[in-house]
Amino acid sequence: MRNTTATLPLFDLAAPGRRATRFSTSPASSGALSDLLPASALASNPPPLPELAEADIVRHFVNLSTLNMCVDTHFYPLGSCTMKYNPKRHERLCRLPGIADLHPHATEEDSQGMLALLYEMQEMLGEIAGLPAVSLQPAAGAQGEFTALLTAAAYFRDRGEKRTKVLFPSSAHGTNPASAALAGFDCIQLPPTTNGFVDIEELKKHLDETTAVFMVTNPNTLGLFEKEILQISKLLHDVGGLVYIDGANMNAIVGVTRPGDFGGDMMHYNVHKTFTGPHGAGGPGAGPIAVRDFLGDYLPGPIIRKTNTATSPQYSLITPPKSIGRVRSFFGNVGILLRGAFYLRTLGPQGLREMTEQAVLNANYMKARLQDVLPVPQGEFCMHEFVASAKALKDESGVSAMDIAKRLLDHGFHAPTVYFPLVVPEALMIEPTETESKQTLDAFLDAVREIVVEDPEMVHEAPHTTCVRRPDEVGAARNPVFCNTACIPN
Ligand SMILES: Cc1ncc(COP(=O)(O)O)c(C=O)c1O
Repeated sequence: MRNTTATLPLFDLAAPGRRATRFSTSPASSGALSDLLPASALASNPPPLPELAEADIVRHFVNLSTLNMCVDTHFYPLGSCTMKYNPKRHERLCRLPGIADLHPHATEEDSQGMLALLYEMQEMLGEIAGLPAVSLQPAAGAQGEFTALLTAAAYFRDRGEKRTKVLFPSSAHGTNPASAALAGFDCIQLPPTTNGFVDIEELKKHLDETTAVFMVTNPNTLGLFEKEILQISKLLHDVGGLVYIDGANMNAIVGVTRPGDFGGDMMHYNVHKTFTGPHGAGGPGAGPIAVRDFLGDYLPGPIIRKTNTATSPQYSLITPPKSIGRVRSFFGNVGILLRGAFYLRTLGPQGLREMTEQAVLNANYMKARLQDVLPVPQGEFCMHEFVASAKALKDESGVSAMDIAKRLLDHGFHAPTVYFPLVVPEALMIEPTETESKQTLDAFLDAVREIVVEDPEMVHEAPHTTCVRRPDEVGAARNPVFCNTACIPN
C-alpha cells in the first residue's frame, strides 16, 4: 500500500525543532556561532527550510521515486524504445574512480585508459555495422541522423554534386524528416505497400541525380525486415545516392546481419536502446554513427586513433581532413558509451547473436498469443517488435489503443507505444526485448486479454491506481505546470 503521507510536500511534513542530525556539543564546538564567524558571514534570519527527521526525508524521496515506472520496477514494452534491463554491473564499472573521476580536460597522455576503452567501442560499433568509420560524438539517435546527413551533404558538396532530396517511407520515425529538414534537404515521404514495406515502384519515381539519401529503418517500424533492401540499396547507388539505415531497431539484427552488408552507407546506433544504456524521460543517450570508408573524411572530430599497435599502443585524437566539425563536446556522452562497451564485452559475438534471437522469439511469442484479440495487420512473423491494432475493438466497444495503454498501468505494466507508426489505425507497438522471462510475458498477455473484455466504461476511466490520471498529454509536454502538491491517488 502506498504511503501517501510520505509524499506530502516536505514543508507540510516539517515541524519546528525536528532534526535529521544533532551536532556535537563538545567544548570545541559549544561556543556561539557569532564567536567563531565574522559578522559578514552570519545570516540575519535562518533560511526558511523545512525541519525534518531523517526517516521523513528518506521515506519522502523513496516513495516519490516509486510513483513512476522504470525498467527496474516494471515490464516496459515500449515499442521502438528497446527498454531492456540495464545490468547493474555496468553501472558499477562506470563508477570506478579511473573512469568517473577523469576530468574531460585531462591531456591525451593522462587519458590513455579512457581513450583505449572508447577506441575499442569505436571499433566494435564499426564491426557490428559493417561500416568501418565511426564517430562516437552524437548524443542521441536523432542527433546521429542529423550528423550523418551533414556528413553526406559535405561529401556531395565536395564532389560538386547538387543533391537536394532525402526520401523516407511514411512509417519512418518523425526524427528522420526532422533531421533531413534541419540538415537543409527537401523531404519526400513515400507511401508503403499494403504489407507495410518500402514500395519500390514508388521509390523509383523519385530517384534521379538530385536524390541525396534514402532513410530507412530496418527492420522497419512495423517490426518487419525489409526483404528487398539489397535491391533498394542498388537502386539508390545506381543514381549516386546514399542509403541511411536508422539503427533504432538493431536489437533485431545484431550478430545476424549488418547494415553495411545489406547496402547501407551510413547508420546510427541508439546505444541507450540496443546496448542497455539507461534511458527515458528524454535522456541521457548516445547515438554514434558508422559510415563507409569514403565518408570517413567528413565525420565530426575528434576520432580516436591507435598507433604502435604491436609494442605499446598509444591513443590520440585526430580530426578527419574534411570534417564537418564538432557536434558534441569532448568525446560524446561517455557514460552511456561505456555502459554499451561493457555490455558488448560481456556478451561477446555469440552472446549478442543470442540476445537478438531471444528478442525476436519473445516478440513472436507475444504476437502469436495476442493476435486473436488484437489483430496484427502486417506480417506473418515479426522481428523484435510488432504492431497490433485496436481498431476492431474500438469499433465494437469503444475501447481504444489509448484506453488499453492506460488500463495496463493499473495491472502493473508500462504501456506499449501507441499510435505509432501512423500507418496502423489504433496502433499498439509492443517490444518485449530479450531480458523478460516467459512468466512476465504471460502475465502481460493475460492482462491485455482481461482488459479487452472488461467493462468499457471502466477502461475509459483508467488508470484508477496512479496518482496522475489522464493529463492533456500535449499540454503537459508544452506547458508543464510543476506544483508542489500532495499525491493522493483516488
Ligand atoms: C525508429 C527510430 N528512429 C530514431 C529515433 C530517435 O532516437 P533518439 O530518441 O535516441 O533521438 C527513435 C527513438 O525512439 C526511433 O524509434
